Amino acid sequence: MNPELGFVHVYERGASPRTLLLLHGTGGNEHDLLSLGTELDPVAARLSPRGPVLENGHPRFFRRLAEGVFDQEDLKRRTNDLADFLRGAAQAYQFDLSKVVAVGYSNGANIAASVLLRRPRTIPAAVLLRAMVPFEPEPLPDLNGTRVWIAGGKNDLIIPRENTERLATILSEAGAEVTAHFFDAGHGLTNTELVLAKRWLDELPA
Ligand code: MLT
Repeated sequence: MNPELGFVHVYERGASPRTLLLLHGTGGNEHDLLSLGTELDPVAARLSPRGPVLENGHPRFFRRLAEGVFDQEDLKRRTNDLADFLRGAAQAYQFDLSKVVAVGYSNGANIAASVLLRRPRTIPAAVLLRAMVPFEPEPLPDLNGTRVWIAGGKNDLIIPRENTERLATILSEAGAEVTAHFFDAGHGLTNTELVLAKRWLDELPA
C-alpha cells in the first residue's frame, strides 16, 4: 500500500496485463471483493481501494443524503479523487490504464458509473453489479470504445430495475457498448451472474 495515493487500498500484481479495479459496496472495505476479482479473472492484477467516506462507521465511496439520494457535490469530488487515484496507482505500480476493468458492487458500482460519466477516458471497461444512475450527465460524455456489463436484480429493493435500465440507456446514448442483464435476485449477487460476468470478461478484447 502506497500512502501517497490518497486511498487506503490493496494492490496485487497479476500474471496478465489486465488490472481489475475492485469497488466494494456500503459497509465493505478493500478486502471485500478480492476473492470475487480472482473468481472473475484469476490472472489479472487487483487494485482495491476502500471508500473514504464513513456513514455510521460504514465505508462508502461518496456521501448520500438518504437511500438512493446522493450528495452531488461530494459525489463530484469523490469521483475525481477516485479517477486521480487510479491514474496515480497506474504510475506507482506500472500498470496499463487501457487494460483496466472496474468491477463495482452497489455503492462501488455507482462510483464506477460516475467515473465513466464524469471522467470518460479513465476506465475503458466496467462490470457494474447492482448499479443506479449516479447523476444525469449534461451534456453526454463521449464513451465510444467503452464496454460495460451491467447486472441488476429483478427483486432488488434498494435499486429499482428502471433506475438500472436508465443507467444502461445513458451509457449507450453516450456511445458505450452496454450489455444489461436482470436476474432472479435481490440486492445480493448470484452465482449465475458471476459466471456470465466472467464469460464477458474472458471475451473482452485484450
Ligand atoms: C448507494 O448509496 O450508492 C446505493 O444506494 C447503494 C447502496 O446502498 O450503497
